[in-house]
Amino acid sequence: MDKKFDLDKIEFCKEPPIQEPDRQYYYMKKCRESVKAQEAALGRPLTACVQNFGCQMNARDSEKLRGILSEIGYQIIDTEEADFVIYNTCTVRENANLKVYGHLGTLGHRKRKNPHMLIGLCGCMMQEPQVVEKLKTSYRFVDLIFGTHNLYKFAELLCLAMDSDRTIIDIWKDTDKIVEDLPCQRKYAFKSGVNIMFGCNNFCSYCIVPYVRGRERSRNPEDIVNEIERLAKDGVVEVMLLGQNVNSYGKNLETPITFAELLRRVEQIDGIERIRFMTSHPKDLSDELIEVMKDSKKICPHMHLPLQSGSSRLLKIMNRKYTKEQYLTLVEKLRAAVPDISLTTDIIVGFPGETEEDFQETLDVVRQARYDSAFTFIYSKRTGTPAAAMENQVPEDVVKDRFDRLLELVQQISKEMSSRLEGQTVPVLVEEVNTHDKGYMTGRLANNLLVHFPGDEALLGKIVKVHLAQGKGFYYMGEMVQ
Ligand code: SAH
Ligand code: SF4
Ligand code: F3S
Repeated sequence: MDKKFDLDKIEFCKEPPIQEPDRQYYYMKKCRESVKAQEAALGRPLTACVQNFGCQMNARDSEKLRGILSEIGYQIIDTEEADFVIYNTCTVRENANLKVYGHLGTLGHRKRKNPHMLIGLCGCMMQEPQVVEKLKTSYRFVDLIFGTHNLYKFAELLCLAMDSDRTIIDIWKDTDKIVEDLPCQRKYAFKSGVNIMFGCNNFCSYCIVPYVRGRERSRNPEDIVNEIERLAKDGVVEVMLLGQNVNSYGKNLETPITFAELLRRVEQIDGIERIRFMTSHPKDLSDELIEVMKDSKKICPHMHLPLQSGSSRLLKIMNRKYTKEQYLTLVEKLRAAVPDISLTTDIIVGFPGETEEDFQETLDVVRQARYDSAFTFIYSKRTGTPAAAMENQVPEDVVKDRFDRLLELVQQISKEMSSRLEGQTVPVLVEEVNTHDKGYMTGRLANNLLVHFPGDEALLGKIVKVHLAQGKGFYYMGEMVQ
C-alpha cells in the first residue's frame, strides 16, 4: 500500500479537519471504529469487494477505493459475497450500463437475505442524471451513490451511509480539485497505473467521457514523480501513465510542461524499468514525443493510437481533428523512429452516416497501419452527445455486417504481426502464474504481447530473458534463458 498517514495517530477532535486529505483520514478512522464494533457483534471480520466495470482509469480509481476500505479495516475480497460491495461503473457504451443493472439485480436479492450488507455505486455512470433517477426509483436498496469528481470523499460518504437508513447521494457536476496522497491498494506488487491527468476537453461527438469526467486537469509533475519514486521504492518496476489524452498533458498547468518532458523526468527514476502510457490522441502526438520514445531505454515500444475511423469525412464529424492522411503519416513516423514498435488502436463501426465508402477507408487504414491488435466497437448512442441527435443512424444489420468484416481483417493482420518476434530472445516482465498450465508462468513483452514459459512463482515481478520459441497467433510459447 502507498501509505503516508497513520490512522492510529489521528486524534478525534470535535470537528473534522477542513483540509484534504487529512479530513478523509479522520473519516477513515471513524469508519474503522464502526467496522470494529460490527466485527465484535458478528464475531468475524468484515469483507468488502470493489468491482470495476471501466477503463484503466477506473481500475486505478478502484485501487484507491480498495486502499481506503482496507485502511478502514475491511478485508478486501474478489467475490460479491461481501459485507460491502461497491461497483465502480462505466458508461462509455450502452452495454456497460446494462451490465451494471444486471449485477445490481442479483445483489438486491442477496441484500434481502442479508440486510446488514451495504451496497455502493460510483464512477462514470453516476454522473448521468437519468441513471441516478432510475436508481432512486427502482433500486432503492442501494446505500451509497457518488460520482467521479468526489471519489476522494469516499470515506466521509461511507461514514454517513453506515449511520443512515436512506441512500446517501453526492454527485458533483465538475471540479477543479485534485486530492493527493489517498491510500491505494495495488492489484500488482510490481506494476502500477499512475494518473497524470483527469477529465477530457476533446468532445469527440460520439463520446460521453467529457460529460462524466469533467474538464481536463493535469497533476503537477512533481506530484507524479514523487508518487512514482514511492512506487519504485515499494518494488514497482513498471508504470503506466494514465489519461484520456496524455499527449495534451501539462498544457494547462501554471508552468506548462509537455508530455515528452514528463516522460524524460520519469525515465530518470531509479528502479523503474518500463514506462507505458495510455491514451494517445493522434491530434496531439508531437515529434518531441516520438524523439523521446526513440532515445528512451525504458519507454516500451508500444503505442495505442485510437483511429476511430479511417474516413476523413467521418473523422471531421466525429470532431477528431485529424485526417486519414495525417494519421497514416504519424504511423510512418513512429515506425521509422521505433522500428519494432507495436501499434494498437480503437475503431468504431456504425457511426451515424457511415457509408460503405467510409467503412472501406477504415479497412484501408487497418491494412496500411498493420495493427498488432485493435479494439473494435459498435457505435453506441450516448444521450447528450452531439452524435446521438444525428438523424442518419446506421441500421443494425449493416453495422453488424461491417463489424464482422472489420474483425476478420483485424484478426488476420494481428495474427501475422504478433508472430514476428518468433525465434528472438527478449526481456519479459513475469506477471502471473499460468492458470491453465501448472508449472508455467506468463510474462509480458515490452510490446505488450504475452509469453508462457516453464517457471515458478519466485519469478513474479522479475524481468527475465525468454526465448520466444513459438508464435501462437496472439501469444508465444517460450523458455527462459539464464
Ligand atoms: N480517450 C481515449 C478513449 C477513451 S474511450 C481516446 O480518445 O482515444 C475508449 C474507446 O471507446 C474509444 O477510443 C472509442 O473507440 C470507444 N468509444 C467511445 N465512445 C463510444 C461510443 N459512443 N460508441 C462506441 N464506442 C465508443
Ligand atoms: Fe472521448 Fe474523445 Fe475524450 Fe477520448 S478524446 S475520452 S474519445 S472525447
Ligand atoms: Fe468508462 Fe468512464 Fe473510463 S465512461 S471508459 S470508465 S472514463
